[in-house]
Amino acid sequence: MPIPAPNLYPPFNIVRLSHVEYMVTDLAASRAFYVDTLGLQVTQEDDQRIYLRAMEERGHHCIVLVQADKAEVGVLGFKLFDDPDLDKAAEFFASRDLPVEWVDRPHMGRCLRTRDPWGIPLEFYVKMDRLEPIHQKYKLYNGVKPLRIDHFNMFSADVDASVAFYNDIGFRVTEYTADDESGKTWAAWMHRKGGVHDVAFTNGLGPRLHHTAFWVPTPLNIIDLLDLMSTTGYIDNIERGPGRHGISNAFFLYVRDPDGHRIEIYCSDYQTCDPDLEPIKWSLTDPQRQTLWGAAAPRSWFEEGSTFAGAETKPSALTAQPIIAP
Ligand SMILES: [Fe+2]
Repeated sequence: MPIPAPNLYPPFNIVRLSHVEYMVTDLAASRAFYVDTLGLQVTQEDDQRIYLRAMEERGHHCIVLVQADKAEVGVLGFKLFDDPDLDKAAEFFASRDLPVEWVDRPHMGRCLRTRDPWGIPLEFYVKMDRLEPIHQKYKLYNGVKPLRIDHFNMFSADVDASVAFYNDIGFRVTEYTADDESGKTWAAWMHRKGGVHDVAFTNGLGPRLHHTAFWVPTPLNIIDLLDLMSTTGYIDNIERGPGRHGISNAFFLYVRDPDGHRIEIYCSDYQTCDPDLEPIKWSLTDPQRQTLWGAAAPRSWFEEGSTFAGAETKPSALTAQPIIAP
């Protein structure tokens, strides 16, 4: 399907992705991974929840880890520009017959809880508690030195339909992968904040969260993380990379948390804020699409992901196969 023209005047103004809630089965094991290994900063914790932020972030949290019986994803959070945008968002989701609920969330002001048409739990807010800057408190830097949350990547059973919906609410396509045979979109990268993406969609059993990514200062921080993980009991948690993506041109590494939630460490994509930026098209059969250096991703990368609480998954009708490492 052709990529839709960007919607430059969407019904409400999303600034950026903001936070994710991960349900985890062993909070202490997750703390060891996210805090002691990746280097995220604890902003609040008790025996049921841990709130984390990255080094450049002023908002109270970008990840909430919640002790649960089942590992899944509670919600994906997005920050809106101003208070009237929240009401406009509520109006938009109601007009699409999607759930609209105002919820109380710790550390956040008015919060609109809804789902996309495939059941992905979403929340939108304007105000979150603001914390003092720590980006120059270098004694606090640890692990991979995560600076900020960068994007969510989701499995979708119909990427063209996901692109159409998220395009309607103002996300703009920067790059996409087409299946040459059917002409359908196999994957797409869409942004609000002026990087390559805030959200991406990948063909497959969906909806599921494929990964959450964190921006780091340099590729060398990724090498440091690999040295750390490989000598502290996390060697089996290293899934793919390091490498440079063809799509996005970013340097990357994929790791899995103790429950299998996938985290990408991401560095150096490019600016995309021009409203007339032309989306870059890739072929599914191009080996440089995944990794500029030609290395294919493992099968787990195409098949495994985290389910969303309360969302039923279904397989994609598009069976076109990506290149998978032997
Ligand atoms: Fe990614």
